[in-house]
Amino acid sequence: MNEHRDLALDSQISTLGFTQQILCGRGTTAIWLAVRALTANDEAAEVIMPDVLCSTALDGVILAGAVPRFAAVAADRFTVTPESIAAAITPKTRAILVAHTFGHGVNIPAIRAVAPRIPIIEDAVQGIGGSVHGQLIGTLGDVSILSFHPTKLIDGHGGLLAFNDATMLAQVTADVASLADDPCVGWERVLANLHTLLPGAAAAGYVAQLRATYRTLLKQFDATHDNVARIAASWRSLAERVSARNQKAQLLRDRLHGLASSLPEIRVGDAIWRYTITLPSAILARRAVHALTRARLISTQLYPSLSGLLGQVPMTPFTDRFVNFWVDEPITEDYFERVASVLKDLKTLTIDKTYKLGTRI
Ligand SMILES: Cc1ncc(COP(=O)(O)O)c(C=O)c1O
Repeated sequence: MNEHRDLALDSQISTLGFTQQILCGRGTTAIWLAVRALTANDEAAEVIMPDVLCSTALDGVILAGAVPRFAAVAADRFTVTPESIAAAITPKTRAILVAHTFGHGVNIPAIRAVAPRIPIIEDAVQGIGGSVHGQLIGTLGDVSILSFHPTKLIDGHGGLLAFNDATMLAQVTADVASLADDPCVGWERVLANLHTLLPGAAAAGYVAQLRATYRTLLKQFDATHDNVARIAASWRSLAERVSARNQKAQLLRDRLHGLASSLPEIRVGDAIWRYTITLPSAILARRAVHALTRARLISTQLYPSLSGLLGQVPMTPFTDRFVNFWVDEPITEDYFERVASVLKDLKTLTIDKTYKLGTRI
């Protein structure tokens, strides 16, 4: 464990069951560290990642000098499947990043079965506090990633990388030490990759963006007492908070029943971070968010298709139909009643009660 010594935080981190734990500035930094350690000295390394995910996760992979290869997500849970991972594997695959997007748990043992020799980075940021077939999320990969932030499942500021392979430790330790350097280590490979991944102008744009943001993405851990205590306290109350979030998501799902939209099931073990539904068209999704905003009800439209962001044919053509609802502590039952009432006022959403995902209105 680096930098801090705090027994309360140590005891929470130890629940993940790894022998090596490194705290860093962000979840993105943890992804960067993991990918660098797993692809060291491999110029052509590819890392498979979900096509639907926070775009800073993609920044982390790209800043590590790896080539991202996207795996399709299932429309009903927004997560990768063994089949989509198997389809993305090539002889150059050096790691698979799996995320429990929006809090829907992924069956990582089933993914391991189709990729038995490829290390799995479990991005537990949106699923921590949940489980898959009784095994805790955050304990399922070869490397585990967390992010601490007021809008995530665990409060505070920072990231965590946990793993067992002692041979990764030297690289990770050196990379943590290099975080003060300018430019970041491996920058040449980043530039070379971006120029092969993207057409000229787009590569230049992405390079400019990374130059401007990488210091905010790749950072050392804030080991002040306040931050450490905040993370530890929030982690300690995670189980109760996850249970409350799941109940709220279920309540919202019940309230939205009958709308022409796809309402994902909340399965045993899920740890809903944002309850996300898919509307029949992008226009309707935008109208819904507009109407909700006018009624002062928070909702968002995350995430884009990452393959689309890199100028490829978007692998997930329906991301512009997402609407995400918050189920965080301050959200009350009244919010769900009002959300349902606003959406039911959008007449097109109530026309077709038998709407199935894939049909467009
Ligand atoms: C699933 C997932 N992984 C990684 C990250 C990156 O974490 P951070 O914001 O701490 O850099 C995020 C951020 O939203 C995320 O949602």
